[in-house]
Amino acid sequence: MLKYISLLLITAIALVSCSKLVPPEPAPEEVLAGTVPGLTQAQEKEHLVGDAFFGKVFGTADGLGPVFVQTTCSNCHVGNGKGHPSTMVTRFGNNQGSAFDYLNNKGGAQLQPRAIAGYVPEYLPSEANVITRRLAPIVMGLGYIAALSDQSILANADSADLNGDGISGRPCYVDPSSFFIPQSFHIPNNGKYIGRFGKKAEKVTLLDQVVFALKQDIGITSDFDPQDIFNPLSGNFTGDQVADPEVSSYVVNSLVFYMRTLKAPERRNAEDPDVKEGEKLFGQIGCESCHKPDHVTAVSDIEALSNKTFHPFSDFLLHDMGPALDDGYPEGGAASNEWRTPALWGLGLAETTQGGKMFLLHDGRATGIEQALSFHGGESQNARNAFFTLSETQRKQVIKFLMSL
Ligand code: HEC
Ligand code: HEC
Repeated sequence: MLKYISLLLITAIALVSCSKLVPPEPAPEEVLAGTVPGLTQAQEKEHLVGDAFFGKVFGTADGLGPVFVQTTCSNCHVGNGKGHPSTMVTRFGNNQGSAFDYLNNKGGAQLQPRAIAGYVPEYLPSEANVITRRLAPIVMGLGYIAALSDQSILANADSADLNGDGISGRPCYVDPSSFFIPQSFHIPNNGKYIGRFGKKAEKVTLLDQVVFALKQDIGITSDFDPQDIFNPLSGNFTGDQVADPEVSSYVVNSLVFYMRTLKAPERRNAEDPDVKEGEKLFGQIGCESCHKPDHVTAVSDIEALSNKTFHPFSDFLLHDMGPALDDGYPEGGAASNEWRTPALWGLGLAETTQGGKMFLLHDGRATGIEQALSFHGGESQNARNAFFTLSETQRKQVIKFLMSL
């Protein structure tokens, strides 16, 4: 008996000390990883292939550069979440009053401040009188956004503000890429299509965004865009030593599949009474006019994404956000003061991928939610004012709600 008890005791001690040494696994809703529910086993496998490419560090032998910003997707989209200001991308141009020059012959529009050995990195040319910075966004749940029909995006648009609420979200029409293949739910307008990805909604599809990221952020050419970027400021036009295209469409398509099949961030504490009150207030003070909670996807070739309701808190439309957020940089179909409403899901986990502190808005200038709201102007001025006239308790409830997303 004594022997038995001491054995139990030893086991108990071992268990206690184990639990001290090994931190408990975080719950699924606490991490920005995992797949959309309902994928087939084959799709789960394909997701893992893309996951590996997303984390792959490209080196000189892979065709990195010759000029680049970072060596891997996941340096910027840390743990599939928001990035840190230290990895922001910089874009620049020359505003000539009536025209805007993206200074393509001077290394524009995006700065690649690093280069492989033996090559010259870019620097900002003296002609750049507009410089803008962009923080990497969360990349969870994008498959749902990609599966929305243009019709459902247009349903929330009110370009001429006919309902008189001071908010005139408009779709961003852009020229499609040379490799764009429209789906049945895309609605063209004079040869242009609605952009839905990127902070100014300048990319129509995830494929556009991934091909762009490979080339402009990492200096990797692909079947879709086989021309390397050189630094025109270097006077040396030889690129890296790897033949183009540096990755095949298999790599690109795997990355796109990975982006399509990362699950949407899951809510935490949704039933907390303060969170529920905050959610109500969020609707009452007009945040929902842009940060639209509910959307339903169209039919998708990935069954798990077909006819699904999801809650990104965005309308994917452009809004004039006023002078404080005007970055002086028009892009795609968006004016310099216009931004696409960002999805708010995952906000409560931002700190976990941003080094323990939050950095919000397109350039990470706000270190908290109240500060992000203090920059809301233009079409969002009324909602912002309504927020700041709430009682302190109510403001805390709105913030608690946002932190549950
Ligand atoms: C140097 C940092 C950096 C790297 C590296 C990078 N990204 Fe990004 N990514 C960004 C930024 C910044 C944006 C916002 C771009 C904009 O608004 O124009 C973005 C946007 C995106 C978006 C659109 C998200 C949305 O909500 O609209 C996707 C998808 C994406 N990146 C995927 C990738 C993939 C895949 C890779 C690797 C091939 C990659 N990114 C590499 C910084 C980076
Ligand atoms: C007119 C449309 C509009 C309204 C109304 C609006 N927002 Fe926004 N919101 C935006 C846009 C656009 C941005 C991105 C601006 C930028 O990045 O510079 C944004 C950014 C944010 C962010 C930062 C997100 C991030 O990931 O960096 C938060 C938080 C936010 N809004 C909350 C709210 C709340 C709360 C309200 C109501 C008081 C509200 N917004 C009202 C359009 C709107």
